[in-house]
Amino acid sequence: MKKKFLVINGPNLNNLGMREPEIYGQLSLQQIIEYTEIKLQSFDLNIEWFQSNLEGEIVSKIQSSGLEKFSALIINPAGYSHTSIAILDAIKMLNIPVIEVHLSNTHAREGFRKERPVATGATSIIEGLGKNVYHTAIYSQL
Ligand code: DQA
Repeated sequence: MKKKFLVINGPNLNNLGMREPEIYGQLSLQQIIEYTEIKLQSFDLNIEWFQSNLEGEIVSKIQSSGLEKFSALIINPAGYSHTSIAILDAIKMLNIPVIEVHLSNTHAREGFRKERPVATGATSIIEGLGKNVYHTAIYSQL
């Protein structure tokens, strides 16, 4: 059966390409989606992409993902990575692997980015590989 993956991107990631390109790269989110799909095209899988700037919408999406047969959740909670107990609580309800990803290496950045409540509930974290984090995370679950 075709494996399905859900990829959630949090706030400000809709502005990739324009947003601090020296940190996050030149590609838009749409271009990263296309890049990821190309990287994984030889595998028989389906990827659902979701982006929201709102914490509650992300929580609701995670809750509804429990009803579907996803093989794993890949999530870049963006700024919420450093603050959101609500997203942490939501991922803890899932019984599938949760891979937290970041384009940048957050450990090499400001001290406040070391605070990572959501990651405490994740199966694994992949970060600092730029546009390559999404397909690397999905590939790890094939
Ligand atoms: C980010 C890192 C976060 O610290 C930041 O708030 C983001 C993007 C990343 O992908 O590198 O919005 O999650």
